[in-house]
Amino acid sequence: MKIFLDTADSKAIQHWTQTGIIDGVTTNPTHLSREGGDPVKKVLEICALLPKGEISVEVTEKDPQRVYEQAKAIAALAKNVMVKIPCHVDYYHVIHKLVQEGVPLNITLVFTVIQSLMMCKLGVRYVSPFIGRWDDIDVEGFKILHRIREMIDQYGYKTQILAASLRHVRHLHHAIMSGADVATVPVDVLAKAVEHPLTDRGIEKFDADWQKLGIRKFP
Ligand code: E4P
Repeated sequence: MKIFLDTADSKAIQHWTQTGIIDGVTTNPTHLSREGGDPVKKVLEICALLPKGEISVEVTEKDPQRVYEQAKAIAALAKNVMVKIPCHVDYYHVIHKLVQEGVPLNITLVFTVIQSLMMCKLGVRYVSPFIGRWDDIDVEGFKILHRIREMIDQYGYKTQILAASLRHVRHLHHAIMSGADVATVPVDVLAKAVEHPLTDRGIEKFDADWQKLGIRKFP
């Protein structure tokens, strides 16, 4: 399973890439707007931080022809860029064309099994179901993840599931257990997810016991 960071904060990306567990980054217009400055510079910075990772960058245009042109321009920014396009029927023909041209796509704002199936038919690399936004409207988002997994396995599609909009540790847990291929995780959620008080307490206890020996060098 791949873990992406859901942020455009390059300091956090730099910090977490050193751990070796990060396979990519998902940005969106909200993340890039929060960082401020020139979004192209920011994207290039992120791509350079994780040269072997997959870096998602979302289109901001609305008109389908402009979305197509912008997608091509985004894809040309760096070798490890993936273009994010919203899962709207107006863009199906654009997505179809881009897939045929070999542009790696992450289809975003996916909420149903049927939307996912259509994207699988078009042969996109990733579909991104938004778990947290389902929960926002009182629907159990993780159940959709399970169903999308079943659908993809049933038909043998190659499209991978990128679980997005993971707002807390429980969401990440669900993404893992539902067989998502990728979980994109906000930095604060990842930090909470990987720590455990019993691990901390265990380290302290072993250290205290070891100090009793009074040995300075081991081995
Ligand atoms: C990532 O690809 C998505 O844009 C992101 O996970 C959305 O998260 P949100 O629903 O918390 O805004």
